[in-house]
Amino acid sequence: MSFVHAHRGVRIAGCGSSLPERRLTNADLEKMMDTSDEWIVKRTGISERRVFDRDHGPSTAKLGEQALREALADADLAPTDLDLLVVATMTADMPTPGVGPTVAAALECGNVGAMDINAACSGFVFSLNVAHEMTRSGRYQNVGVIGVDTITRFVDYSTYGRGAAILFGDAASAFIIRADADERLGLIAETMHTDGHGAKHLFIPTCAEQFYEDEYDDRKVGRVQMNGQAVFKFAVKKFPEVIEQTLEKAGLAAEDVDHYVCHQANARILEAARDRFGLAPERLTVNIDRYGNTVAASCPLVFDELKQAGRVEPGQKVMFIAFGAGLTWGASLWQL
Ligand code: UT7
Repeated sequence: MSFVHAHRGVRIAGCGSSLPERRLTNADLEKMMDTSDEWIVKRTGISERRVFDRDHGPSTAKLGEQALREALADADLAPTDLDLLVVATMTADMPTPGVGPTVAAALECGNVGAMDINAACSGFVFSLNVAHEMTRSGRYQNVGVIGVDTITRFVDYSTYGRGAAILFGDAASAFIIRADADERLGLIAETMHTDGHGAKHLFIPTCAEQFYEDEYDDRKVGRVQMNGQAVFKFAVKKFPEVIEQTLEKAGLAAEDVDHYVCHQANARILEAARDRFGLAPERLTVNIDRYGNTVAASCPLVFDELKQAGRVEPGQKVMFIAFGAGLTWGASLWQL
């Protein structure tokens, strides 16, 4: 087809984030359940997280809209310049419509193609990979990619649910990716994997039939069910594996990558990856202390902070890495 330009570049033209105002500190959690600031900091590295208000929002769509607005401003584009919008989320406000069409309408993007992708904490990385290919192929020029979740709506803030309650926070973060004449820019390599057999380690049941073995308990319905130790082991194994696999596909060594932008699930998981590859702290940024685990928003939120701090420069190589429920895991290695 004449309009397809197979060999062209793609760049991250803008990014922006949005956080709920309400802070939930470890001291607040101490009043709600049997836990302590010391335990949470030592086991996870988290000091506080942002949480949306169940009655007053901001909703998943509202957070996503605000992040996309910021990203568009950063890219110096108008909402009508977008020709595709991909939203990574597992916490759409309603089963239907998806967050994509709601955000597109709120920003008056016109009849842009808009959709949601649910790959839990890996959602943004998977969406970025898909959006990149749609742009590289020449079919789309300006694509919005949002990672947004209000996971705390599924968290039980009692001692009974404390394993998940201490971990999660809400956030949105968005990228604008654009077609570029410089062919060298864009994805160098990507990796995407799932293992549905591991679903039982991290899921949100909606009825009794969805429980594994004899685990059913009324208090667990509609609440995050997480086997923390199993997910931890999975992550510590898969993080280095997926980094190695992606480096190998790209023909690069660990030190060739300027920033490892990782899903913020637990500071100990990130430190293990740093140690494994002998990375200096500034190569693998940790911001989990302020936001907790923000699911699909986690990776772009780290990148946005790096960019705001002036630490992202043209010519650098950046690897986005995530893992999560599904189970899912993957990476996206970019030439900026
Ligand atoms: O995006 C992917 C999402 N999920 C993850 O990445 C989760 C990965 N897993 C983890 O981050 C960790 O497993 C947790 C932070 C969830 C838990 O840490 P852990 O070091 O694996 O603790 P544990 O579950 O082995 O529990 C150790 C002890 C237990 O007490 P006993 O049996 O040793 O007396 C727990 O009851 O800590 C207790 N405990 C707590 N104590 C205070 C568990 N949660 C808490 C808590 N506060 N919030």
